[in-house]
Amino acid sequence: MLSKKKNLKKMKKSEREVASTFGSRYFSESIPKYEISEEGMPPRAAYQLIHEELNLDGNPALNLASFVTTWMEPEADKLIMESMGKNFIDNDEYPQTSKIQDRVINMLARLFNAPHECKSIGTSAIGSSEAIMLGLLAHKWTWKNRRKAEGKPYDKPNIVMGADVHTVWEKFALYFDVELRLIPLAKDTYIVTAEEVAKQIDENTICVGTVIGTTFTGQMDPINEINDLLIDIKEKKGWDIPIHVDGASGGFIAPFIYPDLSWDFRLEQVRSINVSGHKYGLVYPGIGWLVFKDKTDLPEELIFKVNYLGGLMPNYSLNFSKGSSTIVAQYYNFLRLGKSGYKDIMENMLQNCRHLAGKLEKSGKFEIINKEVMFPLVAVGLKDADFTVFQLSEKLREKGWIIPAYTLPENAQDVAVLRMVIKENFGRDMVDSLLDDIMEAYEYFEKQKISNHKERENPTLLY
Ligand SMILES: Cc1ncc(COP(=O)(O)O)c(C=O)c1O
Repeated sequence: MLSKKKNLKKMKKSEREVASTFGSRYFSESIPKYEISEEGMPPRAAYQLIHEELNLDGNPALNLASFVTTWMEPEADKLIMESMGKNFIDNDEYPQTSKIQDRVINMLARLFNAPHECKSIGTSAIGSSEAIMLGLLAHKWTWKNRRKAEGKPYDKPNIVMGADVHTVWEKFALYFDVELRLIPLAKDTYIVTAEEVAKQIDENTICVGTVIGTTFTGQMDPINEINDLLIDIKEKKGWDIPIHVDGASGGFIAPFIYPDLSWDFRLEQVRSINVSGHKYGLVYPGIGWLVFKDKTDLPEELIFKVNYLGGLMPNYSLNFSKGSSTIVAQYYNFLRLGKSGYKDIMENMLQNCRHLAGKLEKSGKFEIINKEVMFPLVAVGLKDADFTVFQLSEKLREKGWIIPAYTLPENAQDVAVLRMVIKENFGRDMVDSLLDDIMEAYEYFEKQKISNHKERENPTLLY
């Protein structure tokens, strides 16, 4: 009988690969990148190769650029894995998942204070972008139907919004052939004003776009004032112009922290709201939600009913198939956290963000752009520095921090900022570590300035 060692030697290399992933040929060859190979590889090798490569990505926990959730509880992870194989669109096969979506929409409609007499409806989406496009499309159709019924032309729709909106709003205007009336930002406030909106609207305005928690500075448009303006216009001119609120991030914060703030369905002209489940809804990407105040806000003809999956399923979406797991995970969070759980998390995030903003301001080196810090996001500019926020952002990357630097939109392009989004898993000590690293990076550039200055004073140093 051959010894175990000899036996192993006699084995073909492909057989030995089962025993040692890193000893397999897959780790000494370049892996397929352009064409699927004829033969596959053992699962562990495939996993390990991809896993190692993905280590080159940034660390999500240090990514302050994105609003998107990077951590969920193990029980949520378990539900997500259990639902991974369910295509949400197969309502007839997975009716319970469909019911869960409807429960979430009901809960959101109530969270956004839809009046009891309204029959709110809505849908899940891949994110706020899809939700916004669907919301605006419905308003375009409602406007078109009204114009047709009145025997008026309906070939020149326009949409009015501030330049503080997310890029998806411009995308909507382009893709759905609607004239974009983008109001430049008001200097030093970085949000739109009701007076500016008044100058732009007319009988062809399908909707006014507003934001609660802007992408650039985390501020809020004066939705209340815009609502008053539109009620006044409706009474005087008969133009019934709806407001869509982009609550991508603020929609999950305001109800818990500022319950008395009127921005939602309490306002007459607010007819639709989107919110990102994957931002402060605290679910992994991609999940967004769209809620209409009343079913009359979504024209019937936009709802498709398909029967070939069994049953007759109504559908309002841009794509067809999609996963179910993030929908289930959103419901998990609602059950698990309740309103008080969400409130506690939001308060912690806000406190940590205000701590960060306070320290940066106190240092005298930074100017806080969103002075109030209403949402857990701080945007800062540099005060009297010889270097830029872009350099600072790059330097911080050396320590793993991902903090974007950018210039603000139209009318405020000369303002360059660093933006930091504080998420639930970013505790106080992490904030303090970040502060230390920001100050260290700042001093690095300061020292460089001194040495450059010395070099200039004493040119022989150059040789
Ligand atoms: C205000 C606002 N609207 C819309 C979006 C787009 O959201 P999503 O990434 O969920 O499509 C974002 C993303 O950051 C946002 O901040």
